[in-house]
Amino acid sequence: MALSLNDIRSLFEQYGNLAYSGEPVTQLEHALQSGALAEEADADDDLVAAAFLHDVGHLLNLQGDTPTQRGIDDLHQYFALPFLRPVLPDAVLEPIRLHVDAKRCLCAIDDGYFGLLSPDSVRSLELQGGVFSKEEVAAFLQKPHAEDALRLRQWDDRAKEENRATPGLEHYLEIVERVMRNRAVD
Ligand SMILES: [Fe+2]
Ligand SMILES: [Fe+2]
Repeated sequence: MALSLNDIRSLFEQYGNLAYSGEPVTQLEHALQSGALAEEADADDDLVAAAFLHDVGHLLNLQGDTPTQRGIDDLHQYFALPFLRPVLPDAVLEPIRLHVDAKRCLCAIDDGYFGLLSPDSVRSLELQGGVFSKEEVAAFLQKPHAEDALRLRQWDDRAKEENRATPGLEHYLEIVERVMRNRAVD
């Protein structure tokens, strides 16, 4: 099964108002802010689409409020991939798949990074396997799109600001549509 553009729109329309667990933003606000930060950093369409869609797995697999407090790792980074793979390229899928491991990597390589994480991100870090070892960092950085995943992760961490102005849902759906269309002619 593939998610169409309309399916993605419906997911955000239906569930976008849910709180992003443990953060002062909704799921939709978090997605829009992630997309906006990617655009401000001059990311290409693929990476803006990845930033906007990186947590869509939460909307496909609702776990209620703050699952980390119940010791649950929802594995949301993987959840949407089977639905997106038929319609989007690896340049979108891989940064989404790797955005949790990117946090584990940044904690290992960037001294200031851990201190920037929200309490919920710290709680989930342990459930997700904790900070990478040196070997795990090296293996991660070898992966295609690892750099994109690290960039995405840093926008992700900042996309939790109350009442930040961003472009709207349709703007990011247009970008996703453009990426889908390019993929279709490949
Ligand atoms: Fe996430
Ligand atoms: Fe996120």
